[in-house]
Amino acid sequence: MIGVLLLLFLLPFLLYIAAPQIRKMLSSGVCTSTVQLPGKVAVVTGANTGIGKETAKELAQRGARVYLACRDVQKGELVAREIQIMTGNQQVLVRKLDLADTKSIRAFAKGFLAEEKHLHILINNAGVMMCPYSKTADGFEMHIGVNHLGHFLLTHLLLEKLKESAPSRVVNVSSLAHHLGRIHFHNLQGEKFYHAGLAYCHSKLANILFTQELARRLKGSGVTTYSVHPGTVNSELVRHSYLMRWIWWLFSFFIKTSQQGAQTSLYCALTEGLEVLNGNHFSDCHVAWVSAQARNETVARRLWDVSCDLLGIPVD
Ligand SMILES: NC(=O)c1ccc[n+]([C@@H]2O[C@H](COP(=O)([O-])OP(=O)(O)OC[C@H]3O[C@@H](n4cnc5c(N)ncnc54)[C@H](OP(=O)(O)O)[C@@H]3O)[C@@H](O)[C@H]2O)c1
Repeated sequence: MIGVLLLLFLLPFLLYIAAPQIRKMLSSGVCTSTVQLPGKVAVVTGANTGIGKETAKELAQRGARVYLACRDVQKGELVAREIQIMTGNQQVLVRKLDLADTKSIRAFAKGFLAEEKHLHILINNAGVMMCPYSKTADGFEMHIGVNHLGHFLLTHLLLEKLKESAPSRVVNVSSLAHHLGRIHFHNLQGEKFYHAGLAYCHSKLANILFTQELARRLKGSGVTTYSVHPGTVNSELVRHSYLMRWIWWLFSFFIKTSQQGAQTSLYCALTEGLEVLNGNHFSDCHVAWVSAQARNETVARRLWDVSCDLLGIPVD
């Protein structure tokens, strides 16, 4: 009895001591590519914090000109300065991009296309999770609007530049949560039924379906695309849910840091010879299993057409 009580008493202390080792075990998957990026151009969405910031930092460290595409330019500028100082790379630039507003997305793309000759790496990283029901400037439900439709439009607008710059890559940051997602075409905007957690899962499923359809359409173009699950990462993603914030705080010693969370995005952006795995989903720097719905080509094609329709892009 005394032994059990002693163990219970010591358990939090033992867990605290073991936390770095447990975190290391749970965050296998490190991008070991030694590729350097002088002369290369990269865009990272949502790069002012979390996984996006760490992804941008590593790309800058390797010599790329990196665009931090952020909705809050002031936050972005502070981070750009921090990355410039840490990496010695002055080519870290901030541009305004609000994925919840197609006007802002079009303005970002217009500005980028006017000032840059190339785009080699596009990391569609920004995301929102568990927002109370709300809509984007264009009337799309926030999760599907920002996480899927915003990045769909951005990629579409930058596609010619990516093709001209081939070999080039598009990395879409999805999630393991896609397993709970479904594409309800009759309720894409959550107007008939809405659950904040599920809305996130649906949008993350859309990221994978988009990746697969994009890969099919880009075959032979020299542009390849990958979706990733970054792991469970200690970031600001849970900001909209009190419960999730509390759970994240409780397990913060064990879950990945943002730097560890960036590894799979970096792996897909940098690893040489990955072109043969065009369209695949990755986790911990390995190809990962996706749900049956995420492998459904018919749903992927239909989602593509519906997305074009909603965004006023001619369907080809
Ligand atoms: N953290 C995890 O455990 C986890 C797990 C699986 C997948 N992911 C995915 O990883 C990606 C990065 O998330 P994170 O964990 O790094 O979260 P985070 O720290 O909350 O970062 C999200 C980024 O997205 C930006 N963003 C949100 N709405 C935007 C909008 N309308 N326009 C432009 N940017 C917007 C945020 O900007 P502000 O700072 O201005 O809000 C922020 O820079 C997301 O796609 C997420 O779904 C994360």
